[in-house]
Amino acid sequence: MEKLIGLNKIRTAVFISGTGSNLKNLIKFSKTKKSPIAINLVISNTNKTKALKYANQNKIKKKVLNFRNNSIAEKNILKFLDREKIKFICLAGFMKILSKNFIKKFNGKIINIHPSLLPKYKGLNTHERAIKNKDKFGGCSVHYVTSKLDSGKIIIQKKVKITAKDNSTSLAKKVLKQEHKLYPTAILKIFN
Ligand code: GAR
Repeated sequence: MEKLIGLNKIRTAVFISGTGSNLKNLIKFSKTKKSPIAINLVISNTNKTKALKYANQNKIKKKVLNFRNNSIAEKNILKFLDREKIKFICLAGFMKILSKNFIKKFNGKIINIHPSLLPKYKGLNTHERAIKNKDKFGGCSVHYVTSKLDSGKIIIQKKVKITAKDNSTSLAKKVLKQEHKLYPTAILKIFN
């Protein structure tokens, strides 16, 4: 029965670089009845992440690619995506920038989660920058990926209050907790 439910779901790949808490959370979500997506492939640019164990534990195919040469890495990724009939891509803490050409091939089918209230704080060190600017709120955004970094159409956002006690670590932790709710909500919003 599990398999039958999985059959009609949109075949999805998750790209990671980090600790993979969003990956873990997306896998859990993908197994629920309401999830429109199934996760069939995990792509990582590093084998130094413990996150790959989530793929192993859930019997999801995984590929680790060396990005020393971006265009070779992307060519290989496209081959794996094609082989696994992947129709949708979720970037989850993936820290490499995909080329225009790659994005064009999956136009409108790649989404990303970013730890700020976009358009504020594109790029890195988002929490440090929010605290330094004495912002009252930080947060996270799920958006479509276009060739302009962190600039595609926003699907959904969640605000997180920044208190006087917060530093970038505590804020990152609070935001990450919200990311785990926001990513599945964004996916439901896209497909329902
Ligand atoms: C998350 O906070 C995600 O929003 C961020 O990296 C973290 C990955 O955590 N992504 C970016 O900064 C992308 N520009 P995870 O590996 O535990 O999911």
